[in-house]
Amino acid sequence: MDYSFPCYLLSKQSIDDRALNKDVLSALRANLPNEPLRIIEVGAGVGTMVRRLVRWDVIRQCEYVMVDEMAENIEYASAWVKAWAEEAGLSAERSGENQARVFDQSRDVRIQFERADVFDFIQKNEEPADLLIAHAFLDLLPMPQALSPLLTLTNGLAWLTLNFDGVTTFEPTIEAALDARIERLYHETMDKRSTGGDSRSGRHLFGYLQNAGAEILAAGASDWVVFAREGAYADDEAYFLHFILHFVEQSLRGHPELNAGEFAEWLKVRRTQIERGELVYIAHQMDFLVERGSSDQ
Ligand SMILES: C[S@@+](CC[C@H](N)C(=O)[O-])C[C@H]1O[C@@H](n2cnc3c(N)ncnc32)[C@H](O)[C@@H]1O
Repeated sequence: MDYSFPCYLLSKQSIDDRALNKDVLSALRANLPNEPLRIIEVGAGVGTMVRRLVRWDVIRQCEYVMVDEMAENIEYASAWVKAWAEEAGLSAERSGENQARVFDQSRDVRIQFERADVFDFIQKNEEPADLLIAHAFLDLLPMPQALSPLLTLTNGLAWLTLNFDGVTTFEPTIEAALDARIERLYHETMDKRSTGGDSRSGRHLFGYLQNAGAEILAAGASDWVVFAREGAYADDEAYFLHFILHFVEQSLRGHPELNAGEFAEWLKVRRTQIERGELVYIAHQMDFLVERGSSDQ
């Protein structure tokens, strides 16, 4: 199988669509200031969130800056925008090397593609946004120290979604003790990444956000739940599951607490479960809508 990170990000769209906490999303809709808006999304990947917000009619008139450090993602995002805009019945045009405009008679979204490390971007950004978005991103950063700098990117709201929160479940059980060990060791790799990361970032964000002077307007679970119906996974969700197992394999290969043969067999059985439409995968995550505190402004 060809493991491509942009393809992984595309494959998780339908799963993220289901997972995003709809109460938190309603609070976002209710609290958004009048358009036109300025939105900054950090760790934006290939731009699936701006596509979603247009599709879900959350944004109509806005300037949308998407920041990601991976050149491959930004290149993909820039090339892909025309296809998804046309699919949504919108026109798309380039408006500069790193800019695109997606529009019709009532909508006008100007997207700026920024390939940058988020902390470099924070240093150079001159105009804070009305809304900061970080989707499936905060659990990769050094916390809590990254939070205050990140919040300088907004004058008002931050929608912080899909923050992993300590539970990974693969069903059906293969061998309870081995399943539990793989889950524990996989979470430990998230906590030990040199660039930061926290396998329980969801629950920790309550305290971290308060300490950073942000008011939590809404919070709720946004679990990934992937399962097959009548033996078939929706959309590209089988690819997504294969990619998750690839992550687990990459993270734990050669781990001293795992027998290599047992681990290889475990992966083989899980892959067969995907092919048969038997694997159920659940990851617990949390969404937040926050208002940046005035003490930080
Ligand atoms: C799990 S992916 C999520 C991408 C996107 N939000 C989505 O859900 O489709 C995390 C993204 O953060 C980006 N990233 C990681 N560290 C970063 C950093 N320090 N600065 C900017 N982007 C970063 C990665 O390149 C990747 O695209």
